[in-house]
Amino acid sequence: MRIGVLTGGGDCPGLNAVIRAVVRKGIFHYRDEFLGFLEGWRGLIEDQSMALNLDSVGGILPRGGTILRTSRTDPSKKADGFERCMKTIAAHKLDALIAIGGDDTLSVAQKLHEKGVKVVGVPKTIDNDLGGTDYTFGFDTACNIVCEAIDRVHTTAEAHNRVIVVEVMGRDAGWIALYSGIAGGADAILIPERPFDVDQVAESIRQRHERGRYFSIVVVAEGAKFSTGSGAPVAQEMGKDEFGHAKLGGIANVLAREIEKRTGFETRAVVLGHIQRGGSPSAFDRVLATRYGLGAIDMVHRGEFGSMAALRANKIISIPLQDAISKNRVVDDETIQIMDGLFQEIGAKETAAK
Ligand code: F6P
Repeated sequence: MRIGVLTGGGDCPGLNAVIRAVVRKGIFHYRDEFLGFLEGWRGLIEDQSMALNLDSVGGILPRGGTILRTSRTDPSKKADGFERCMKTIAAHKLDALIAIGGDDTLSVAQKLHEKGVKVVGVPKTIDNDLGGTDYTFGFDTACNIVCEAIDRVHTTAEAHNRVIVVEVMGRDAGWIALYSGIAGGADAILIPERPFDVDQVAESIRQRHERGRYFSIVVVAEGAKFSTGSGAPVAQEMGKDEFGHAKLGGIANVLAREIEKRTGFETRAVVLGHIQRGGSPSAFDRVLATRYGLGAIDMVHRGEFGSMAALRANKIISIPLQDAISKNRVVDDETIQIMDGLFQEIGAKETAAK
């Protein structure tokens, strides 16, 4: 078969591992030929591509980013965007397309599928917010990066008796904040799913100081919201992307000021930003991305189009693309309860030990 591959949306560690797995299995097991489209859907709209073969995927397993590069291009915002994508697919006589991306990229894949394109999706995003799958690749790496950053911030916060607010990505989902905050031993974790009361946050920090802990680490998701106020997350003044998403960011600085005002403790903000998306994928993400890639090429050969490779109970399965994109998978009540319980018990232990 002749198969097109593209990576769309924000990059994330593990994209190259998926491309490598797709191409190697496709060539070794199915004698497929591949064409890589550059910069997401832009590559199809503008017919920009590169050959994908055993040479081009050599040595890319540990590399972050994507050899195909990426963009947040939405064909529905371009003149004849979908028609041009379909024309490119026909011009290259492609039998199928593998789209590796998050909800935006996969919603375009779904629309193309509805127009008759034979497409299979692979879920990627550090945010871990795609429906239908237990984990997206890139999330584990991002959590490890944040966890290491929290460890580093811990020692300097302790040395200076400071409060440090660490802002992490995740858009409207608190997965990164929750997992890395627990892993890093944060003293407060604020996620978009639960608007927070800044007075309560300040009070818990004050109580910690009273117990003789003169520093605190607060992990805040970029999409977290104050319970008072507009109810909207803090956004950068940089407009929206093509899919209409506001560019989030800046809550750590606002929160740091509010905490310092209320407690009198010196408070600093650290915004981790794109550091969370860069560099080598973790071992977990390399394995997961490889499994997704192998699952996707098998799905193509089974003719399971309009589907996405998903991880459920440690098995790679095929689910309708529609299920993955219909709803953002934010942190659910059950997970919050488990993590909250864990957080409280650790806190109770520390109090008891004093
Ligand atoms: O969706 C991944 C993500 O990293 C979000 O966590 C973040 O809000 C957004 O992308 C940042 O996008 P950009 O790279 O376009 O600034």
